[in-house]
Amino acid sequence: MALGRGPRTLKAELQFRFLAVGSVFLVVATALLYTNGQGSLRRQVLTNAVTASETAASLIAVEDHRLIRTAADMNGQAFRTIVTNLGALRRANPSVYHLFTLAPGAKLGSWGVVVDLGSTGNESGVPDPPLVRGRLPIGSPPPKDVPESLLRQGMAQTSGRVLDLTRPDLARVVAVSPIRATGGEAVGLVVVQMSAAALASEARLLAYVCVGIFLLGLVASALASTYVSRWLTRPIEDLLGAVEAISKGDLATRVRVDGHKHELDALGSAFNHMAETLESSRGRNDAQQGRLRELNRIGTRAAATLELPLMLETVAEGMRTVCGGQEAFVGVAAPRDQAIHHWAGSDPGAADLMTTPVPLENLTRVLAGETRLLSRAEMDAAGLSWLRQRPGEYALAAPLKASDETIGALIALGDRAQFHDDAVSLGSVFATQISAAVGNARLFEQIKALDRSKSEFLSIASHEVRTPLTVIKSSLDVLVANKAFTYTTDQRQLIAFCQQSVERLIQLVKDILDVSKIEAGVLQIQFIPTSLNELVTKCLFWVPQLPGGQGIEVEARLPSEPAMVSADPGRIMQVLENLISNALKFSKPGGKVTIDLVEHEAEYEIVVSDQGKGIAAEHLERIFGKFYQVEESATREQGGTGLGLAICKGIIKAHRGRIWAESELGKGSHFHFTLARYQDGADAGRPDAQMSVADLLSSLRSETPSPTRS
Ligand SMILES: Nc1ncnc2c1ncn2[C@@H]1O[C@H](COP(=O)(O)OP(=O)(O)O)[C@@H](O)[C@H]1O
Ligand SMILES: [Mg+2]
Repeated sequence: MALGRGPRTLKAELQFRFLAVGSVFLVVATALLYTNGQGSLRRQVLTNAVTASETAASLIAVEDHRLIRTAADMNGQAFRTIVTNLGALRRANPSVYHLFTLAPGAKLGSWGVVVDLGSTGNESGVPDPPLVRGRLPIGSPPPKDVPESLLRQGMAQTSGRVLDLTRPDLARVVAVSPIRATGGEAVGLVVVQMSAAALASEARLLAYVCVGIFLLGLVASALASTYVSRWLTRPIEDLLGAVEAISKGDLATRVRVDGHKHELDALGSAFNHMAETLESSRGRNDAQQGRLRELNRIGTRAAATLELPLMLETVAEGMRTVCGGQEAFVGVAAPRDQAIHHWAGSDPGAADLMTTPVPLENLTRVLAGETRLLSRAEMDAAGLSWLRQRPGEYALAAPLKASDETIGALIALGDRAQFHDDAVSLGSVFATQISAAVGNARLFEQIKALDRSKSEFLSIASHEVRTPLTVIKSSLDVLVANKAFTYTTDQRQLIAFCQQSVERLIQLVKDILDVSKIEAGVLQIQFIPTSLNELVTKCLFWVPQLPGGQGIEVEARLPSEPAMVSADPGRIMQVLENLISNALKFSKPGGKVTIDLVEHEAEYEIVVSDQGKGIAAEHLERIFGKFYQVEESATREQGGTGLGLAICKGIIKAHRGRIWAESELGKGSHFHFTLARYQDGADAGRPDAQMSVADLLSSLRSETPSPTRS
């Protein structure tokens, strides 16, 4: 942004004005100098001429002058006296080059020459000055270059005039003095013409000097105006530059203050003071902004987790950053608990103290729902006396609230000076911002605890049920196998029903155990390099023993190269068995089940397809849920728990693979799952633990096959 810098700068403006005033002054001054100088020169030459003419007039005897009227009179004594006197005068004054006398003629205003000395300076050996006209005959009119007005003036009193000063060779001065009779009346005139060459050249010199002075003055005033305007505008320009810099955000800019103690310095100091204030307030602003950003960042980070301990650690550290102080604590009461039993702190050194319970009631009473700076006495009242064992005079406490009830507190501990200016307001904002997240995490913590006890209960119960079931199963097997016992057909049938039911119960218990392990996140997966080809081949070995496995053709289409994945072979077998047994269970008699192994760039995909009844689209997602079966009646018909696919999903997810189903009603279903290709060292698997087919078969034979798998 350009701050008002027009095409004409202040400096130029000032310079122009100074120069204009200076030139006017110079013109006036040099004009005065010139006219005065010339005036005094004129006066000087005029005085000379006037003195000469007056002297001449006094030398002439009036009566003598009257006697000369014709050329014959020039031979008389009177003429000679006049000529002698005037000639002496003329010789004494060499700059007189023409001297003559006049007398009024018959008519008024016409003059006739009486005596003309002309250029008779030859008598003294002085060469004739220029412009000598020679003697004028008596009675002839005065030369044209003597103005008539001057002659008229001369009749009254001595007068002089400077003529033609333009050229030194032409310049001259004329003086006339009256020749007075004893009565005082003028009877004639003396006219003296003197050269004024010296005056003309001095006048010319004076003109040159004046012009020179004018030019010098002009240059000096230009220089002075430049200096003064620069001196005046430099602080202003500095100021302008600084204002621009500040407007661009450079608040560290300052102007130079010269210490002249005038207004511009005062302006500069005021500006610098303003810039300092701005800078420090921006510093405070930046710091506040930074803390607000930090507050948001921590709030977001805290809200991103539901893990209460982790969240509380983040929040405690955040509280210290946002509010200042020496260290910070955060505590939250468990749902339905009336006291905070555990605190998280920014300093691990306080770990021992942080188990001190703080009754919510005390905290609520002292804080009254507000964020406050508590003194030591107030800390005691709020039940926070354990904080006294840590350094810090004050505790900035902000309540954490869930639906208007205090559920915990954020505390920053330190000396008053350690807290930021805006600590109370920021602490309050922070507490409000994270209250909901802390509340949710607290509930999540509770739900997790409930879930854990449920899983524990399930696994204990299942274990307890499994033992008697195994006893019943072996007893039934003994009853059937022992030849010593004989049964009627009905009795045999009943025992067979018992056997099937016990098998189903055992499978159900196993499935429930698996599901609870998956849900508790404790399903053990041992990653080892495994060939999918071998696992599928091994499954085919079981097929005839699975329900429905007898009447249905099962075909596996495998690539020639072994498809190596890093997986737990037992668990992947469990998945394959589940999918294949479902396919057989829901196939129509005479149908066909296929198992395809498809290679992809980074993974393998196994597809188990059947030509059975299919699954409606709305069930495709849900069949992977616990206890979900499409038709109750089908369950009764086919048996099963509705847990098989849920377990498959849990196992494949634990392998970081995907599992899904595609189906068309009445035409059959495809169940897909993927496993990442084996990469050397990618998993914690042991490359040397790769199983051979023989190992697999022997391990399989050691396991009792379950003919009624779902
Ligand atoms: N291949 C299939 N064809 C049709 N329906 C299927 C197929 N596989 C699974 N289902 C449906 O998904 C439900 C859940 O299967 P699963 O979890 O294995 O339980 P279960 O086999 O014990 O019923 C089955 O009850 C059935 O309704
Ligand atoms: Mg099943």
